[in-house]
Amino acid sequence: MKIAVIGGTGLIGSQVVRILTENGHEAVPHSPSTGLDLLSGKGLREALDGADVVVNLTNSPTFDDASPAFFRTTMDNLLAAAKDAGVGHAVILSIVGADRVPDLVYYRAKVLQEEILKAGPVPYSIVRATQFFEFMDAVLSWTSDDTTVRLPATLVQPMAAADVAQAVADVCVGAPLQGTRNVAGPEVFRLDELGALTLRARGDHRTVVTDEHAGMFAAASGDALIPPDGAVIAKTSYREWLAR
Ligand SMILES: NC(=O)c1ccc[n+]([C@@H]2O[C@H](COP(=O)([O-])OP(=O)(O)OC[C@H]3O[C@@H](n4cnc5c(N)ncnc54)[C@H](OP(=O)(O)O)[C@@H]3O)[C@@H](O)[C@H]2O)c1
Repeated sequence: MKIAVIGGTGLIGSQVVRILTENGHEAVPHSPSTGLDLLSGKGLREALDGADVVVNLTNSPTFDDASPAFFRTTMDNLLAAAKDAGVGHAVILSIVGADRVPDLVYYRAKVLQEEILKAGPVPYSIVRATQFFEFMDAVLSWTSDDTTVRLPATLVQPMAAADVAQAVADVCVGAPLQGTRNVAGPEVFRLDELGALTLRARGDHRTVVTDEHAGMFAAASGDALIPPDGAVIAKTSYREWLAR
């Protein structure tokens, strides 16, 4: 299959390209550095020429009020070009529970991205993944000083980016789901405990202070970020990943 991987130079996109290529597919990475800008549409027609599948693994440069416009414009451009090119399957990567955290504008933007895809003209699949293990450093940096890291007790079930990429690659080579596949890691953690575990494993002597108002994930309450029944559970555990 020929698969156009938009955002194919990113954390997930680059691994999706590698997995698909290793499995004999023609996976072509596209991003601003290869001459494709999904915001303006530059390079899109050429990128989709002859593609059976397009997978959109781009991300908004910011998680703030600008993110809905990023996902709206990029999805509108992508679907119009995919329809013109006769692409038979469009895939996006969203976030487990995105619709359950309405106070977070970035999560609302991801729901908007899903809705545009569902209402669009191209057969589709949505993969919803939980937070990536690789995202933990950013989470720790948002609300830290020299001695403490403030984190809420939000429940999370994070997963390795490599497992996310495998799940996306699997969906790309299958028939369009016309729906959503949820994928998650094998263990549920409180975010503050996950932070403490991470700092200990790295020999970082800062301490975690539980603060229900700290950082982006303060907006997610209860089990909002925990996948529903039927989710695909990935194998890699957080401790195993940390030890690598
Ligand atoms: N972080 C999480 O825990 C999490 C959980 C679930 C789902 N997700 C979703 O996973 C997706 C991928 O995330 P990621 O961490 O792999 O992203 P990333 O590493 O930031 O990569 C983003 C990719 O998009 C490209 N890109 C940015 N702006 C573009 C534009 N205007 N036109 C074309 N390409 C553009 C980048 O190209 P350059 O490298 O050239 O800039 C890069 O290849 C996101 O949509 C995110 O919402 C994230």
